[in-house]
Amino acid sequence: MAWLDGPAGTQVPSVVIDAIAARLREGVSNHGGSFAASRDGAELADAARLAAGDLLGASPGEILFGQNMTSLTFAMSRAIARDWLPGDRVVVTNLDHDANVSPWREVAQEKGAEVVPVPFDPATGLLDAVAVTSAINERTRVVAVTAASNALGSVTDLVPIVKAAAVVGALSYVDAVHYSAHRLSDVRTLGCDFLAASAYKFFGPHTGLLYGKKEHLETLTPYKVRPAPETAPDRWETGTQSFESLAAVTAAIDYLASLGTGEDRRHRLQSAFDAIRAHEDGLSTRFLSGVAEMPGVRLYGPPDAGDQRVSTFAVDVAGMGAQEVAAEMGRRGIYVWDGHYYAVEAMRQLGLLEQGGLVRIGFVHYTTAKEVDRVLGVLEELSTL
Ligand SMILES: Cc1ncc(COP(=O)(O)O)c(C=O)c1O
Repeated sequence: MAWLDGPAGTQVPSVVIDAIAARLREGVSNHGGSFAASRDGAELADAARLAAGDLLGASPGEILFGQNMTSLTFAMSRAIARDWLPGDRVVVTNLDHDANVSPWREVAQEKGAEVVPVPFDPATGLLDAVAVTSAINERTRVVAVTAASNALGSVTDLVPIVKAAAVVGALSYVDAVHYSAHRLSDVRTLGCDFLAASAYKFFGPHTGLLYGKKEHLETLTPYKVRPAPETAPDRWETGTQSFESLAAVTAAIDYLASLGTGEDRRHRLQSAFDAIRAHEDGLSTRFLSGVAEMPGVRLYGPPDAGDQRVSTFAVDVAGMGAQEVAAEMGRRGIYVWDGHYYAVEAMRQLGLLEQGGLVRIGFVHYTTAKEVDRVLGVLEELSTL
């Protein structure tokens, strides 16, 4: 099942590349001007908000774009924390990428607020929702939690966490950056206050996007320049947007929707992600059963395919450092990360931070069973050297 149609070596479909090129070739300008290129800019931004709204299950007016998820989270956390007082609390998790930890730690330090990190279960790599909800108290202002771990592939049971935050009036800030390549978010069903994603993870350009409940985007006060619009969501978007990237965000979401069927884009996305899920679960089962046969390879994270994991695997090869394994695999044309991939607290909790972390292997919707077998073959070879 090789769905991606981009040129060899790219991670994005041709339509995304073409959308960027066309935008730059045809020209586009900041919106607000009385000329065609400026009107094009406004139309592009509106189209991208509509598309991103379909992707996340939100209204277009609840979507804002920015440089990347990290920058958006630093900006939004500062705005959220404007009225925090000493003794207020923010709950973070050890499973999260640091982009959903450091912004909260930094702002908590400025405000004298307490940061409560919740560990995950080291045996399964899963966050226990009860462990997170038990950390929430009346002073909690934000619960920052990942939808899926970029290190261990674990998927979080978010609903009880979001509900528990809402009970005490705390805001839930969900990192769906890793999740978005594998599963479709639905912010209405989830009920979260914020949900962040990054288009390059779902086969688009390097642009971040953030969903925020309308009421928050309207009532919170952004850090902005005075002449910038006062109305949401524009008031949250600092400076000139990357219009060519916005065109490509729409193209990437349309690409994903084209993998499914249905009467409108949201339904096509749902059907596409059902197919992606079925395909990736098949790859995961294949990979996990292969690794289970290799005494020299240890898997971290959920041991089975299914609701609790995406097709991202952290492994350790006996007798070799993670960096050495990644280099050997790279020499054989298999590109994998080693280290902590910014999931610093996850590696620290596993006691692996100082020794170079783990090797991370990821499969997506265009990965084939043959490619999984090739990865397994190389792991087998390295683990029996
Ligand atoms: C789970 C997760 N969250 C956040 C980020 C940061 O995203 P960005 O690069 O858009 O800032 C990443 C990037 O790898 C990630 O995997």
